[in-house]
Amino acid sequence: MDFINQSEQSQISQKLSAILNICQKMNSERDLTTLLDLIAREASRVLEADRSTIFLLDRDKNELWSKVALDSKEIRFDARLGIAGAVVMTGQTINLEDAHQDPRFYKEIDVHTGYRTRSLLAVPLANFEGQLVGVFEALNKKDGAFNGEDEEILKALAAQAAIAVETAQMFEDLRRHRDRLLQENTQLWKEVEGRFSTQNILGTSEKIQAVLRLIEQIRDSSVNVLITGESGTGKELVAKAIHYNSSRARRPFVALNCAALPESLVESELFGIERGVATGVERRTGKFEVADGGTLFLDEVGDLSLIAQAKLLRVLQERVIERVGGRKAIPVDVRILSATNKDLGAEIKRGNFREDLYYRLKVVHIRMPTLREIREDIPPMANSFLTHYCRELKKEPMNLTPEASVALMNYSWPGNVRELQNEIKRLAVSIPGKTIREEELSEVIHASAGSPATNLTSVSSLKETITELEKRAILEALRKFQQNQQQAAKALGLSRQGLIKKMKRYGIKAVPLN
Ligand SMILES: Nc1ncnc2c1ncn2[C@@H]1O[C@H](COP(=O)(O)OP(=O)(O)OP(=O)(O)O)[C@@H](O)[C@H]1O
Ligand SMILES: [Mg+2]
Repeated sequence: MDFINQSEQSQISQKLSAILNICQKMNSERDLTTLLDLIAREASRVLEADRSTIFLLDRDKNELWSKVALDSKEIRFDARLGIAGAVVMTGQTINLEDAHQDPRFYKEIDVHTGYRTRSLLAVPLANFEGQLVGVFEALNKKDGAFNGEDEEILKALAAQAAIAVETAQMFEDLRRHRDRLLQENTQLWKEVEGRFSTQNILGTSEKIQAVLRLIEQIRDSSVNVLITGESGTGKELVAKAIHYNSSRARRPFVALNCAALPESLVESELFGIERGVATGVERRTGKFEVADGGTLFLDEVGDLSLIAQAKLLRVLQERVIERVGGRKAIPVDVRILSATNKDLGAEIKRGNFREDLYYRLKVVHIRMPTLREIREDIPPMANSFLTHYCRELKKEPMNLTPEASVALMNYSWPGNVRELQNEIKRLAVSIPGKTIREEELSEVIHASAGSPATNLTSVSSLKETITELEKRAILEALRKFQQNQQQAAKALGLSRQGLIKKMKRYGIKAVPLN
C-alpha cells in the first residue's frame, strides 16, 4: 500500500471537491459557449494548467472546432490534424512534455493564436453511448509536465463535460427549432389573415361597400350573423372574412354543410358521440366542440330538418351541448355564422323553418347582392380575376376590349361572382393572345351582348354605360310591373321618389295607369 501523507491527502480531497463543484456548475449551464468557457477555466484551475480547450467534433464536415475564449472567433481544422486529431483517430489519451517535439503537433494553431504550447495533455471526450464527440486539452502545466493524476482528473472531467455539452447542444437545437417554428407560425398567420382579409372582397359599389362596413362594425363582437344571397355571391367569402378579422381569428373556423348532412348524422356531427362502453362506439368530437372559442359556419342552413333545427336552437339558447350517448352538459363558446340562398321568410311561412331559430341566427343580417345589382363592379372584378389567373398561369398580363367589358356588364350572371370567375379563368387559359375580344366570350354572354336591347358597344365611357344600363333597367321594371311605379321602384331597390327623380333625369315619361 502506498504511503500517503496528510498534506497529499488534503490535496486530493481538495481536488475532488473542486471536481464535484465543477460538475455541479456544468450541469446548470445551458448555454453552450458559456459552458465550454466555464469547463475550460475550471479545468485549468484544478490541473494548474495555463489554459484548457474543448474541441468539438463536427461529424458532417469531419472537423474539430473550438472557441478559445468567450468573445473570440471560432477555430476550425481538419479532424485528422494535430494532437487533437490523433486523439480523435485513436481514442487514446496523449500526454506530452514538449508538444513541439512531437511530429503530430499541429503548429498552425499556435501561429493562429499566438500562443506557445509546451506541455500538452489531451483526452477523448465521449458521450454516454461511448461515441467520441470531441477532445479535451490542457496546456502548459505550471511546473513542468502533466502527471498520471492529472490524466485521471482530466478524464473524469471529460466524462462529465461530454454529457453537459450534449445537453447544452440539444437545448440549443431545441431553442433554434422553437424559434423557427414560432417564426413560421407568425408567417403562416400573416398569410391566413391576408388571404381572408376584407381586401379580397372586391367591389366599390355602394352595396358591397355597405357589406364591408357592416363586417367592420361587427368584427369584434360575437353576434350571430346570417348571410343570405344567391349562389356564388360570396357568402362563404364573407363568413371567413368575419371570422379571420375577429378576435376569434386564432381559434378554429369550422364549416358544416347542412345540405350534405343526412338527418341521421346531424346530431353526432354537431355534438359528437360519447364512447359507448357497451356498444363499442368510438368517441367522436362534434363540430361545436371543435369550434369552441371560434366560429361555426352553418352553410345552407335553410336545408336543416325541423328536428335538427330544434336541437340547434337548444344549444343557442343554453350555450351547452350534450354528446350523443352522454349525460354531461358541456359548455361551448361558439359564434354562429350561417348562410343560405333560400328565402327563409318564405320557408317560415311554409312551415319549413322555425321562426325562433331564424331570429337567433339573424342577429345581424348581411344580404349579398347579385352581380346584376352591382354591374359597375363587373369590369374591375373581371380585370382583377384576369390579373390573378395570368399570374397563376405564368402568362403575360391580359386585358379585355371595351366591348368585351360591356358584354360582361350586360349579361345576367345567374351564377354570380363564381360564374364570372370561371368565365375569366376559362378565357385566361384558352386565349393565346394578350387581348380578350367580345366574340371570344362564352356564347350566352356574347349572345346577350349582341341583342339590340342591350347593345352598348357604341357607348364609350364607363359612366355613360352605367347611365344607359340604369335607364334600361328602369324602363324594363316599369314594363314588367305595367307602369306601377311603386312596384317598379321596389324591384329596383329605390324609393318611389328616387325612381321619379331618375325618370325625370332620363326623360322617361310616366304612363298613366288605366
Ligand atoms: N366580392 C367578391 N370579390 C371577390 N371574389 C368574390 C366576391 N364574391 C364572391 N367571390 C368569389 O366567388 C366565388 C364564390 O364565392 P362563395 O363561395 O363565397 O359564394 P357562396 O355565396 O358561398 O356560393 P354558394 O351559395 O354557391 O355556396 C369564390 O371563389 C369567391 O372568392
Ligand atoms: Mg357557399
